[in-house]
Amino acid sequence: MSSEAFVTLATNDNYAIGAMVLASSLRQVGTQKHLFILITNGVSDNIREVLAKFFDTIQLVDLLHSPDPKILQALKRPELAVTLTKLHCWKLTQFTKCVFMDSDTLVIKNIDELFERDELSAVPDVGWPDCFNSGVFVYQPSDVTFNQLIEMAARDGSFDGGDQGLLNQYFSDWSTKDIGRHLSFIYNMTLASTYSYLPAYKRFGQNVKVIHFLGALKPWYCSYNASMGKLNTFIGNDQARDFIEKWWQMMVANVHSAIEQLNLVGSMSNMVIDNPAAIQQPSSSNEDRYQAWQQGQMDYLGADSFENIQKRLDQSIHGQ
Ligand code: UDP
Ligand code: GLC
Ligand code: MN
Repeated sequence: MSSEAFVTLATNDNYAIGAMVLASSLRQVGTQKHLFILITNGVSDNIREVLAKFFDTIQLVDLLHSPDPKILQALKRPELAVTLTKLHCWKLTQFTKCVFMDSDTLVIKNIDELFERDELSAVPDVGWPDCFNSGVFVYQPSDVTFNQLIEMAARDGSFDGGDQGLLNQYFSDWSTKDIGRHLSFIYNMTLASTYSYLPAYKRFGQNVKVIHFLGALKPWYCSYNASMGKLNTFIGNDQARDFIEKWWQMMVANVHSAIEQLNLVGSMSNMVIDNPAAIQQPSSSNEDRYQAWQQGQMDYLGADSFENIQKRLDQSIHGQ
């Protein structure tokens, strides 16, 4: 058995389906590495059975909660408190080297060369590039490191409330010590960069190996028309649309047949449909909407519809 593994995490069925798409994408690019998933009790029994078709090992772990969920509230992503559960990946000492990948990532070219890198190798975070993004990282399992991380979490908390803050506190010399531990952006490309630096995307985009659907709007919340092979309502830029459609193509080709018999709940029960209104979108605050607007993703059928905007204008102009 290979002593190297790709590792991911899912604490609920939505992220587990993301993980199935990720695993399919890894196999599609020909990796022979062990595929390992950490799950918690939040993943239903049905989905666990299906996960076995995609992963070599499924391991049940305890949910680890952020010591400081208030910070996550402030970041408008309270659901990320559970991401500390990721720390369990350091306990997989049966492997000599691992690559952790968020279950909202999609691999489009083989990335086995990452196993030649040392702990901790990762890509700069687009929000604060002196920190690394913890959606993709190379690490070396170790009980000692696991225990130190847990001690640090209990003692100091995490500055962003999730694993990324804590890991950047622990590997605090990442940005200065060794440039070899900075991975190229092609190993963790976030869609926001196609809005913030489109010319760079146009120049280097063909090299991208991993797409990371970072942020509250995950591909599984988008409504997809399987017969047309297109998203229904997405109105962001063409590059972002292409990537989300790539995720859905993988989903329809490799995952959907395995889960369609299941009695899925919520947004998952409507995954491949033609009626966008039936999809349960995450509720969005004004800040989320503002951010979405900035990225060209207006909710033009709902809160940002022309009718609503017109009403707002009338109110301001005529005091109606
Ligand atoms: N995750 C999970 N359940 C959750 C939230 C997160 O299993 O409710 C895991 C999953 O692997 C996910 C990772 O933690 O990819 C990090 O969360 P997310 O990708 O949502 O954060 P983002 O990259 O958007 O900041
Ligand atoms: C980030 C990372 C994600 C991590 C989260 C919480 O934005 O993309 O992997 O779990 O922050 O720290
Ligand atoms: Mn992520």
